[in-house]
Amino acid sequence: MTGKLDGTTAVVTGASSGIGEATARALAAEGATVALFARRRDRLEARAKEIGDAHAYEVDVTDAEAVRSAIDRAADELGGIGVLINNAGYGKWAPAREADLSEWRKMVDINVNGVLSATHAALPHLTAAARGSRGIADVITVSSVAGRKMPAPDSNVYAASKHAVGAFSEGLRQELAEHHVRVGLVEPGLVETELTTSEDDTAPNARTASELGVIQSEDIADAIAYMATRPRRTAINEILVRPTEQVR
Ligand SMILES: NC(=O)c1ccc[n+]([C@@H]2O[C@H](COP(=O)([O-])OP(=O)(O)OC[C@H]3O[C@@H](n4cnc5c(N)ncnc54)[C@H](OP(=O)(O)O)[C@@H]3O)[C@@H](O)[C@H]2O)c1
Repeated sequence: MTGKLDGTTAVVTGASSGIGEATARALAAEGATVALFARRRDRLEARAKEIGDAHAYEVDVTDAEAVRSAIDRAADELGGIGVLINNAGYGKWAPAREADLSEWRKMVDINVNGVLSATHAALPHLTAAARGSRGIADVITVSSVAGRKMPAPDSNVYAASKHAVGAFSEGLRQELAEHHVRVGLVEPGLVETELTTSEDDTAPNARTASELGVIQSEDIADAIAYMATRPRRTAINEILVRPTEQVR
């Protein structure tokens, strides 16, 4: 079977669970060789085995040097990088007066600095891939509905971090258009993942909110795979995906 991503290597950050794991599967199903990035090596190795043409890279996205070295190693070992999915993320919701500053900094480190480090390291590989046989490369970042608007006051810093990657992506899009590197944002609503089913009741909770509707990681992975498999002439720059019943 031939896939639209045959011969392309895709790096997926946060591939050990949730949306990243589903995205790695979806891109592999389109023929991509997938580099799975996250901290939990055992999970990554298990996912790699299930997926087939997938390779585990244990890396913390808050460590810029480790990210650069993993990106360069993946490019070297897997034949370049044609797709980067910036998906690793973290969220903690609390009113500002009760919030822990270390949690704010952690969100910025993972959701913003992690995206900057992976993108910076991947750019030379992506522009090189865009000059190759596929003629196009993709950077797709998983933002959030909270990257478009403030859903509630206690999503303060999470929403700020997602707005930041939205602004960064738009600048990148404008710069890279002529180089045939497409830049896209995917903005999920409430998705049932580890992030939203923890015991932590300060996060939007997919279990308690299920009467309001919840979507699955595969729904977001579909949107990402759609973006990365468009013909060279077409760039899907933004997709917002909410559960049908989600109002805000
Ligand atoms: N679930 C939702 O409702 C929802 C809605 C909107 C947007 N999002 C966004 O979707 C993305 C994926 O989240 P998810 O819902 O799929 O949650 P998840 O299942 O908790 O996945 C988060 C992923 O990020 C990785 N990660 C976290 N910190 C990391 C670090 N420092 N270095 C490397 N990897 C790290 C985790 O892997 P390790 O722990 O193994 O490192 C895991 O693979 C996030 O950007 C999140 O903000 C989610």
